[in-house]
Amino acid sequence: MSADEYIVYTDGACSGNPGPGGWGAVIRHGDSEKQISGREEITTNQRMELKAAVEALRSIPPGSKITLHSDSAYLINSFNQGWMERWVKNGWLNSKGNPVENQDLWNELLELSKINQVKWVKVKGHGTDQLNVRCDLLARRAIGCNEQGEEVEKREKTAGRGSARSKNGRKIRRIGLLTGGGDCPGLNAVIRAVVKGASYNYDIEVVGFNNGFKGLVENDACLISDFAVSGILNRGGTILGTSNRDNPFDYRPGGLDYSQTGADRSGDAVESLKMWDIECLVVIGGDGSLFLAHRFSKLGVPVIGIPKTIDNDLPATDVTFGFDSAVTTATEAIDKIHTTAESHHRVMVVEVMGRNAGWIALHAGMAGGGDIILIPELPFAYSCIAEKIDQRRRQGKKFSIIVVAEGAFEVGKEPVYQQKGDVQRLGGIGPLVSREIEKLTGMESRATVLGHLQRGGSPTSYDRILATRFGVKAVELFRAGSLNEMVCLRGSDIDSVPLEEAVSGIKRVDPDSELVRTAIAVGTSFGCVF
Ligand code: F6P
Repeated sequence: MSADEYIVYTDGACSGNPGPGGWGAVIRHGDSEKQISGREEITTNQRMELKAAVEALRSIPPGSKITLHSDSAYLINSFNQGWMERWVKNGWLNSKGNPVENQDLWNELLELSKINQVKWVKVKGHGTDQLNVRCDLLARRAIGCNEQGEEVEKREKTAGRGSARSKNGRKIRRIGLLTGGGDCPGLNAVIRAVVKGASYNYDIEVVGFNNGFKGLVENDACLISDFAVSGILNRGGTILGTSNRDNPFDYRPGGLDYSQTGADRSGDAVESLKMWDIECLVVIGGDGSLFLAHRFSKLGVPVIGIPKTIDNDLPATDVTFGFDSAVTTATEAIDKIHTTAESHHRVMVVEVMGRNAGWIALHAGMAGGGDIILIPELPFAYSCIAEKIDQRRRQGKKFSIIVVAEGAFEVGKEPVYQQKGDVQRLGGIGPLVSREIEKLTGMESRATVLGHLQRGGSPTSYDRILATRFGVKAVELFRAGSLNEMVCLRGSDIDSVPLEEAVSGIKRVDPDSELVRTAIAVGTSFGCVF
């Protein structure tokens, strides 16, 4: 960089599109540095990106040499790919013949680019380098309306009104929200319920952190307006993104390379919450994410947990949301597999997920009429499975369906893993069972591993309702000051338990339960001698 050159980074952040948004710019010239931060009450992403650049260029003396970095393709390409020239030539009409939006800002940018020597550089978003990170934070803080600091004053001047006040003058309170661990049907339904439950009934805003705890560490967040959660009740996945890595207490920047040493970034996570003025963090997750939530609560961060997992293996709730959807998907698959089993007189093995608990296998196996159900809680013997298949053959039933949980294993052996070590992934027992049974019975056998199909798609109506009840209950707990709790289902009632209880071990199938006994009563084999 030459001494007379200005290096500029710009960024925008928004809380729903269109919605209130903030922008930021960091300007470096020689040894001096300047920061700009502002907010517009109603804006769009694209308008903010232009606004940030306009404000930055305005603050630099005319005739300067400037390199402007932005992650906005809209802004940078307009200059670098000749769009701007074409718009000017076409009387500010775009290629479809429609008037170009934000013409006021484009005009100003054009003038500023003429009176300066500007080089436009496209960068990747959030965190390309230190300047970029700071600029990103500035833009976010502008929305965050931190009660102290320069950005708040700026916002008050720009927006002409106090920070975080509702129409009736009360202070708006903020909760943070993140989805952690594997995705699961119903996550969006919970997000919707938290946002609507908070904004419709109380002066509470919800800040969503992107990609689980990663977003918390890196302060990658956005206010979620009720507008943003419209139409997501039935959508699978999570609009916030998630991650089953990125432990803030052992944070590894290496993506899939787990050999790197982790760093304790919990301080950065706490800082992000402070920056957004968040009073309580709502964590939607399974045992791993709730364990992290619990660790944050020990650091003094108020948290509320919402139990999510298709595995249904959390001890402090009767049911987790996502489980019913996974069971429904697995049951439909077993129904379909029956067709081939019957037509080809085969043994068909269906491997389902569930980690070290057999809930999905037991429920889907029973609902789908599986002849043999193998669960981790009841180690199996191949001889018992073969005996059941032979018994069916003698009865004239020339096919059999085996539903096996990914964590099931043979007596005296270990479960089958796809990956061991720091990150363990179960999987592969289905094909193994299929091969062994073919050898033992002489019957043709095939295996189907359902895998992530069970985590995808629309939540069932049961899960939509449970997720909605959980989300609303979390807001109510916050309102009541009942923090460091996890919402839960007890019988048919929504309740809560201390988070401590919620992270104590996993809930597994009781081999002596009424459910297992019922399955046995209708002839289902568990591949073992009772
Ligand atoms: O916990 C949910 C779950 O789907 C388990 O049933 C399964 O063992 C695991 O996640 C798979 O994780 P990944 O998506 O990382 O392969």
